Amino acid sequence: MILSSLFALLFLFAVAVLVLGTAYKIKQYINVPAPLKIPTTPAPTTKSGVVWRLFREVVFFESLFKSTKWTWIFSWIFHMSMFVVLARHIRYFNEPVWSWVALIQPFGIYAGFTMIIGMLGLLARRIFVDRVKYISSPSDYIMLLLILSIGATGLLMKFVEHTDIVTFKAFIQGIITFNWQPLPTDPLLLVHLMLVIILMIIFPFSKLLHAPGIFFSPTRNQVDNPREQRHIAKWAEKFETSDGQ
Ligand code: HEM
Ligand code: HEM
Repeated sequence: MILSSLFALLFLFAVAVLVLGTAYKIKQYINVPAPLKIPTTPAPTTKSGVVWRLFREVVFFESLFKSTKWTWIFSWIFHMSMFVVLARHIRYFNEPVWSWVALIQPFGIYAGFTMIIGMLGLLARRIFVDRVKYISSPSDYIMLLLILSIGATGLLMKFVEHTDIVTFKAFIQGIITFNWQPLPTDPLLLVHLMLVIILMIIFPFSKLLHAPGIFFSPTRNQVDNPREQRHIAKWAEKFETSDGQ
């Protein structure tokens, strides 16, 4: 029970760091001045055009596609698979399980494999492509290895050394309702959870912030209308004179 309590506490702590830390970073991003009009052209000339551009960026990784096809294919496969895997995990947290979550369960398992294939491709790129290797820092490798290990322990649990999912779900539900229940003690599950806890804690301090960050990227989120509307950064507004000079 000590182990279960320890994991429950660590889990709650990690969720708090993830949520508060990311919220804090988002607040910072909102307040950072974007003094210049710098959308990468050709850029949309309307607000709804920008929404559509960001949508394409997030769902299809459009600019990555335009710049490098190999990175794009591995990266896209990794991210999309990860989202399906995460969606599959919702079943541990919600009771009764939503029908769409039940529906995607089988796809979630395939996604576990494709996620790993994507990450192996990205790792190979950092190891074998000289000019990428040159600019790679330890954190670039560590992020990939961390998420790879999470995926590998997850799949091992699914296919090699099963964990007791019913007890596990009771543990998670216990955390949510503050009525703590025992956690199965198989090593794979403990390692999987520990790595996820580490991932949640480092998220707000790491390159993983690109997930919220994309929405604040001036080259992507600005409307290309410098002639129609004079661009003035928030902090510069007080220097504006009435004739706009
Ligand atoms: C809005 C959601 C997201 C978008 C649009 C997005 C997009 C991207 C893009 C364009 C790259 C650069 C290409 C590459 O190096 O692979 C990238 C890299 C990466 N992303 Fe995301 N991402 C998102 C969310 C996430 C999340 C939630 C995680 C993990 C928790 C994640 C993990 C990574 C990692 C580890 C890399 C580096 C891959 C490498 O080192 O080669 N991403 N992402
Ligand atoms: C809230 C945190 C998480 C919990 C409680 C959790 C728990 C679990 C459990 C219990 C399994 C075994 C499923 C089974 O045997 O049927 C599993 C599998 C798996 N997990 Fe996680 N996990 C978490 C986060 C993550 C994250 C962040 C990733 C990836 C980035 C991930 C990737 C996987 C994969 C690929 C599998 C194998 C395929 C599957 O069963 O969906 N997990 N996870």
